[in-house]
Amino acid sequence: MRYKTSTFQKAHLKLTVLFFTILITNLLACKSSMEEDLQPVDEQSSETVLAARDLDETAEKGSYHLKGYTLKDVFDFPIGAAVVYERLNQPLYANTLKREFSRVSSESNFKFKYLQPEEGKYDWEKADGIVDFALKNNMKVHGHTLLWANDGTYPAWLRNKEGSPEVFDKIMKDHITTVLRHFKGKIQSWDVINESLTPDGKYVDNLFLRKLGPDYIYKAFKYAREADPSVKLFINDFSLEYAGKKLKRYLAMSDELAERGVKIDGIAFQMHAVLRIAMPLVEKSLKMAGDKGLLVYLSEFDVALRYNMPKVFPLTDLLSRQQGQKYKEIVKAYLDNVPKRQQWGITTWGVGDKDSYFNKGYVNFNHDHPLLFGVDYKAKWAYRGFIEAGLGRQNKITLD
Ligand code: XIL
Repeated sequence: MRYKTSTFQKAHLKLTVLFFTILITNLLACKSSMEEDLQPVDEQSSETVLAARDLDETAEKGSYHLKGYTLKDVFDFPIGAAVVYERLNQPLYANTLKREFSRVSSESNFKFKYLQPEEGKYDWEKADGIVDFALKNNMKVHGHTLLWANDGTYPAWLRNKEGSPEVFDKIMKDHITTVLRHFKGKIQSWDVINESLTPDGKYVDNLFLRKLGPDYIYKAFKYAREADPSVKLFINDFSLEYAGKKLKRYLAMSDELAERGVKIDGIAFQMHAVLRIAMPLVEKSLKMAGDKGLLVYLSEFDVALRYNMPKVFPLTDLLSRQQGQKYKEIVKAYLDNVPKRQQWGITTWGVGDKDSYFNKGYVNFNHDHPLLFGVDYKAKWAYRGFIEAGLGRQNKITLD
């Protein structure tokens, strides 16, 4: 009997210990998840901090939202961001994208050397991942870029290739046709050529120019049009906003190609702008493109602050406000000078300053601060200026 009782007591004791162990483990787990919720903004705890309902609260913490507005709701055309496939699973990045943007472009995942890394072998994984993300979130996609007039942007197999013009013609045609067919119905617009003219309007040297002559541009548009008649085809380049020879040559080129039966739908101003850029030139350039009847797209928009600055520098409140004002002026220039039906949209080259390609290799992401959101994805004055332009607000952003 004594033996039996003691067995029962031991079992009881074991059960009690087990019960408390489970209870304490659960309590600890619960506590640590509560602590996580209380952590300052970081990539893991983003959802609660930056959910739309909290925007007024984050504004008080130095984030320049306008309550009740997001970028994509304020404009009649899509507002985009260039993305990098690997970042789409970072909550803060993805949430900001979903909340604010209605189009994605890609920094590199659609470029020739990544889509066709080996001759005839295509790697769709990352580009498809971006397109899936866009489709799931009701966003449009702009493809960047079928060709880029710079040998460094082509895969090694192509750079080292030898052969007749016909061989290169076929490579170009196959690439353009395969890529456009693959994304047919999912991507609405493409950069066909990128950075193909020098500042004084000459052709930039590259392997297709050497093999096929200047007609490679005509051919690229022709093959693209044949592969997908419904997609919008763009020229993409930088420094078009200076109304210089480059822009004039492109506008003439669009007439020349049209005469030869190949239609360019639009011209994309990369618009990697700088703080000191003179607005009359920006306005004039946009108007020149608009007057041609082309779609006009700001495809890689950002406003750099780093001129006359040390290699790394902090974003001061003053710089942030000046940048906000410049964003506001450039967006306003676009709205005022491009006829509404020709406004293809505006895309920034990244989401937050952490993503900017200017900051590649800088551990604190402070070589420049060019985008709408900070390293912490809080909305900067740049964001505020952008939205205020969309709302038609004329006031200048105060500098104090
Ligand atoms: C840049 C990407 O942002 C970088 O990540 C990559 O290493 C190089 O290319 N103009 C263009 C873009 O047309 O393709 C460039 O993108 C930035 C300048």
